[in-house]
Amino acid sequence: MAGKLDGKIALVTGGSRGIGRGIALRLAQEGCALVAFTFHSDSAAAEESAKDVEAAGATALPIRAQLERAEEAGALFEKLDRELTAKTGGTGLDILVNNVGSAGSGTLATTSPEMFDEIIAVNTRAPFFLLQAASSRLRDGGRVINISSAFAVRPAPGAPVYSMAKAAVNTLTTIAAAEFGERGITVNAVSPGWTATDANAEARRNEKLIAGVVRDTADGRIAEPADVAGVVAMFASPEGAWLTGQHVEASGRFRWH
Ligand SMILES: NC(=O)c1ccc[n+]([C@@H]2O[C@H](COP(=O)([O-])OP(=O)(O)OC[C@H]3O[C@@H](n4cnc5c(N)ncnc54)[C@H](OP(=O)(O)O)[C@@H]3O)[C@@H](O)[C@H]2O)c1
Repeated sequence: MAGKLDGKIALVTGGSRGIGRGIALRLAQEGCALVAFTFHSDSAAAEESAKDVEAAGATALPIRAQLERAEEAGALFEKLDRELTAKTGGTGLDILVNNVGSAGSGTLATTSPEMFDEIIAVNTRAPFFLLQAASSRLRDGGRVINISSAFAVRPAPGAPVYSMAKAAVNTLTTIAAAEFGERGITVNAVSPGWTATDANAEARRNEKLIAGVVRDTADGRIAEPADVAGVVAMFASPEGAWLTGQHVEASGRFRWH
């Protein structure tokens, strides 16, 4: 059966676990020919993700990348260029999903300069320089989807730097949409609400907290990665061609009342 993304080549950062894994799998299910994805250090999780992507019919290309490092975006694309040239005969890319991000820890009172720099590095600097490096590889008509957070517009006091960093991702999305528009490349941000991943496994053991989240969510449940992946696939699809510069919350309407 023909998929909406038949033959496309995608790169998903942080595709070995969590939301990124759900996105990598969904892009493969929609017909992508090749789904490259990065992982940080858990090679077993990357292998599992690669198996799922291959089972869905795409070539999987796991690449190790430590995106908290300033020089990593360039190094990642050098590796990707080599692998894509060997596998596809060129370096062209159709879809970039900037998914890696981390809330870190620390309130306004307790955040150190080092913690501040690390959160900004992963959530804001990495997508900026990945987008910069991807620019010459993205084919006309391509898609960029930045994974932001509902905290970007409704900031959490417990995560001030993360909230600021994701607001910057929304701003980057607006700027890049204008920059890439002439080439028919759309750039959008998808902002998940609470989504069940390893990143919040500990918080999800707090029954009171979770009961509050569920109560505050119009859909009455916490999301699974596949819920967010479906919205990403919508932006990546041909139907998404006239949607750009948008910041869409994919949260089942968190804090709806
Ligand atoms: N989960 C939520 O409730 C939620 C809500 C709003 C927004 N978001 C956003 O959604 C995105 C995905 O979140 P998630 O919960 O799926 O995260 P996660 O479960 O922690 O995702 C982990 C993935 O990111 C990789 N990774 C982590 N740190 C990295 C780094 N410094 N450099 C490169 N790769 C790194 C991991 O590689 P390894 O497996 O090798 O460690 C893995 O592939 C993030 O941008 C997050 O801010 C999540």
